[in-house]
Amino acid sequence: MSLKAIPGESGLPVFGHTLRFMRDCNSLFDDMHNKYGSVYYNKFLSHRAVHLLSPEGNEFVLLDRENNFSSRLAWNRALKALFPNGLMLRDGDDHRYHRRLMGAPFKAAALEHYVERMNVDVASQISSWGLIDNFQFYPAIKSLTLDLAASIFIGEDLNQEAAQVNQAFVDLVNASLVLVRYPMLGNKYQRGLEGRAFLEAHFRSRIADKKASSDTDMFAEICRAEGDEGERFSQQDIVDHIIFLMMAAHDTTTSSLSSICYALGKHPEWQNKIRDEISSLGKSQLLYGDMSEFKTSGLVLKEALRLYPPLPTIPRAAVRDCEFQGFQIKAGDQVMACPSFTHRMADIWSDPQRFDPERFNDDRAEDKQHRHAWVPFGGGAHKCLGIKFAELQIKLLLFHLLKNYQIRIPAGYEMPYQPAPIGKPSDMLPLKLEVIV
Ligand code: HEM
Repeated sequence: MSLKAIPGESGLPVFGHTLRFMRDCNSLFDDMHNKYGSVYYNKFLSHRAVHLLSPEGNEFVLLDRENNFSSRLAWNRALKALFPNGLMLRDGDDHRYHRRLMGAPFKAAALEHYVERMNVDVASQISSWGLIDNFQFYPAIKSLTLDLAASIFIGEDLNQEAAQVNQAFVDLVNASLVLVRYPMLGNKYQRGLEGRAFLEAHFRSRIADKKASSDTDMFAEICRAEGDEGERFSQQDIVDHIIFLMMAAHDTTTSSLSSICYALGKHPEWQNKIRDEISSLGKSQLLYGDMSEFKTSGLVLKEALRLYPPLPTIPRAAVRDCEFQGFQIKAGDQVMACPSFTHRMADIWSDPQRFDPERFNDDRAEDKQHRHAWVPFGGGAHKCLGIKFAELQIKLLLFHLLKNYQIRIPAGYEMPYQPAPIGKPSDMLPLKLEVIV
């Protein structure tokens, strides 16, 4: 049977659809879907990218049962120079080996320690938030998640040195978002490379101590990680993994917390429901064992990630010619799973634009209609390793925030949202925090 050529368009000269995608990928998906259906191509700079706009497409790409795709080749384009050898930049047996060893920092005992420490850090940091005039939620949450990363991921106390680590990390992440990747005259890209060099030296100099320590941060866990047959990470592996982890965690969690708190500002009845749960827990801290009782925040988290998935698309590179629904995908094509589209499909979600966390309740379970309709954390071999950690951190922040504050939204405010490359409010998110007395 002959296969169909994939329809689509190349967009503007040089840029293709890059700028429109970064500005508003959802309207681009809708336009392309109306014109071409659920399989089409666009161009991003010089690259052709095939988009699959369906849960079946997500499954085809993410589960990759036929070994058609490489995650390494797809992510190398954006991340190789600044975040080399992270888990997403590995394939096959090499990925399986590293992923298994990386299980250590995500085991229940390790998570329990992070939660204890986070309770202290979060409570002390947010205590000043309600006193600030013209509070800007987005930068505040970004700085909080950065400080938490310094403390939980690498065990730094929040001092001058942690500030230097944070700055190097911010420079590195900022460099990964620029279009022109050429270092010159102290531009963002050069600062990013310098940040990377600083972090590598910083972490490398601490590996021996961390290995010998009984510290409970992620860095220490990775240094001590050991497989069943005594395999261990090399020094370079440790440095690459810890820097990658910080990157994978930071903007995604900041993005999620921003959308959740915006949604809670818009829908105060959901704040009250969460607060009722906080009252019935009757505790001043939320511990690891309490998380399963803290259910409403879990529904709110799922719904916010449905409407605002931090990664609107998940890329792979085709390493061989293959077929999807009668269309020919060619070796070398970039192929995208598209959470941001499947999360809003009217034949899966009732009233898809509405914020309605109850759709995830057991009795409605709209997300169960297709295993790959709701995929904010991806799926298959590369499914997010930090899901549990992200959930704990988000629940813990909501616990302390809603215990102390009522989130209010300025009259008539609608959050302007830039969905790509990692979703975020395109303003400072001016939510008001009113102290609960
Ligand atoms: C709500 C927050 C988060 C979201 C939405 C998210 C989303 C994702 C997605 C979509 C992927 C798959 C990428 C792909 O298949 O190409 C991924 C992978 C990954 N995430 Fe997350 N993530 C979040 C938080 C975190 C956190 C907190 C950590 C670490 C503590 C983390 C660590 C990782 C790692 C290591 C991978 C690579 C896994 C692999 O390739 O085997 N993520 N994440």
